[in-house]
Amino acid sequence: MGHSPSDVEPSTRALSNIDPALRRCWHPVARPSEVTAQPLRVMLLGQPWVLYRAGGRIVAFEDRCPHRRTPLSLGRCHEDVLQCAYHGWRFDAAGTCIEIPALGPGATVPPAARLSGPAGLAEAHGIVFLSPEEPISPLGSIVEADDPSFEAGELPTLSARASAGLLADNFLELAHFPFVHAGTFGAGEAAEVPPYTVTRDDDWSFTVSYTHPFANREDPGVAAGIRPLMQTRRLAYRLSAPFHLRLRIDFVEAGGSNVIGFFIQPESADSCRLFTTLWRDDLSGDAQRMADAVDFEVAVLREDLRVQEAFDALVLPLAPTAEVHTRADRITLELRRVLSELVAAATPGSGRP
Ligand code: FES
Ligand SMILES: [Fe+2]
Repeated sequence: MGHSPSDVEPSTRALSNIDPALRRCWHPVARPSEVTAQPLRVMLLGQPWVLYRAGGRIVAFEDRCPHRRTPLSLGRCHEDVLQCAYHGWRFDAAGTCIEIPALGPGATVPPAARLSGPAGLAEAHGIVFLSPEEPISPLGSIVEADDPSFEAGELPTLSARASAGLLADNFLELAHFPFVHAGTFGAGEAAEVPPYTVTRDDDWSFTVSYTHPFANREDPGVAAGIRPLMQTRRLAYRLSAPFHLRLRIDFVEAGGSNVIGFFIQPESADSCRLFTTLWRDDLSGDAQRMADAVDFEVAVLREDLRVQEAFDALVLPLAPTAEVHTRADRITLELRRVLSELVAAATPGSGRP
């Protein structure tokens, strides 16, 4: 059984996937192409929601019939009207019950026979986002998604037994490449983390930028003798709380930029889905190279998930003394800080820091 959100107390010490504070945040729940005129069930923070298209527009409701709590996603839609699978109550796209078959034609419908929607539902950079309650942090933007010089490559949505907080931590983390990613890009990476600066913005986000030398083995200019093998790469990580991440990599000598957007859906206490999209301006419409880049990124993510799925406690520690930190970890310390502040802001009067 899943937890109902009200059973779960927010914690000042660790952030779980079903922390009530996360109800006041945007989360990815689907790709737009998954949402059709028929109901789709998605899980978020331990709670099911039903999504479908009515008049082409995506609508969402708690996946629970007000009559006997049957999942509405078991039902069917006909001309934008959703019919519950159990006793056939019919609901319009605003969530109002328009017919109770057991009462016969023209009967009065009880006012409480209506569906509850989320506070926020939005489509942005190829993902449907939902905020169960009034969001306190904005939906982060990906400027490259609207830039015609960039092409998008969507990874398959991955499911994992994982903590959303720990996955965000892993995406930001700079010291694991030669160890976790030895089978993909990590083999030639230096273990020492270069100096970097963390810049906190006032919209519940922060950015980390640094430049480092790397061997650009994919650059055709190296083989042609135009450029040296050792080149410079500029990395800019941005986290928008709670779990929206963007990494932009600019190749200084060879030119070109790669962007990875990584969006985590905390489904339940022990499961997440990962929505990942690549945006690249260096592939000149070559579908095969994009498919290869997507496959490579899936292989990289599977290396990360092997570690993330092994954790016993699926929570992100928020207390500074719960773990040992070094100066190489300032980026992931900032994650703990921004999430602690978000949790405190989302649960006023809780005494949370
Ligand atoms: S439970 Fe939905 S109509 Fe009865
Ligand atoms: Fe990684």
